[in-house]
Amino acid sequence: MQNILIDADTGIDDSIAILFALKQPGVRVVGVTTGCGNTSAAQAAENTLRLIHLAQPPYNVPVAIGANAPLVGQWDGPVPHIHGNNGIGDVELPVSPQKPLAEPACDLIIRMVRKHPHQLTLVTLGRMTNLALALEKAPDIVPLVKNVVFMGGTLHHPGNVSPVCEANLAGDPEAADLVFRAGLDLTMVGLDVTMQVRLTAHHLDMLEKYAREENRPIAAYIRQAMKVYYQFNRLQNNCLDHCPVHDPLAVLAAVDPSLVTIRRAPARVECGGTFCRGMVVADFREHPIDAPYLSICTEVDARKAVEKLITAFT
Ligand code: RIB
Ligand code: CA
Repeated sequence: MQNILIDADTGIDDSIAILFALKQPGVRVVGVTTGCGNTSAAQAAENTLRLIHLAQPPYNVPVAIGANAPLVGQWDGPVPHIHGNNGIGDVELPVSPQKPLAEPACDLIIRMVRKHPHQLTLVTLGRMTNLALALEKAPDIVPLVKNVVFMGGTLHHPGNVSPVCEANLAGDPEAADLVFRAGLDLTMVGLDVTMQVRLTAHHLDMLEKYAREENRPIAAYIRQAMKVYYQFNRLQNNCLDHCPVHDPLAVLAAVDPSLVTIRRAPARVECGGTFCRGMVVADFREHPIDAPYLSICTEVDARKAVEKLITAFT
């Protein structure tokens, strides 16, 4: 059994990643922590609780609300043109009887790492603020974390919020750089690979056709939420009835590393500049900068990844 804790800014792609993790055999989600990004940290937790209620896992998944601002500066606010007004494509999922914990997200991360020493994979799908706060508060957890897989950043692919920056890292560069410097086993699932994997209208048809009986509400939810996400991707990226697979690919890579090809290099996150604030700086020189090595996903088996994603529900 693979234990994972997910940190998310629960928008549309986060929601599919969470549902996949809850349905993938051999995976146990020991908790979900939320932060601001696609929506507020509180709304992300509300969305997460409703998604867990929709998926009905046979065990309890605690949800904790985290940072509603980056380490430096303020959150810019939600992005309804990408993720709808509620973060999950304006789909009104049934309310969950479960409530978020009173415990803040960073404390849940610390508690779960200590509860599962060397056996917990942390998967971050939004800004790295909650993880950075956990590391600041309890640096002793670093050697206890099995590994961290994050959706964010880009090496060669153009950025999505500046020519060279991806949204999750640009949203809190100081937090990301703190995590990069911590000495964790850290894998970047960035735009280099997430832009290679596409969820198409045909895939949604297959999902609805083959979803197990108990997963039909999930298939219907994904179909509905995708309307908003497809529209954004059509207007912004010229995608005709398809979209990149950002957050689900991070969970897929955490669960099945054979899906991706990795290059390793010392890396930091640029915390200054106008266009480069939030950029991943990986050093492939013979005598690189003094920084911990980052595992960077550079290639992905796109067909296998998307089929594995859909198969979790069939
Ligand atoms: O750049 C894509 C990332 O930004 C995804 O995690 C998406 O959900 C948003 O957080
Ligand atoms: Ca996200």
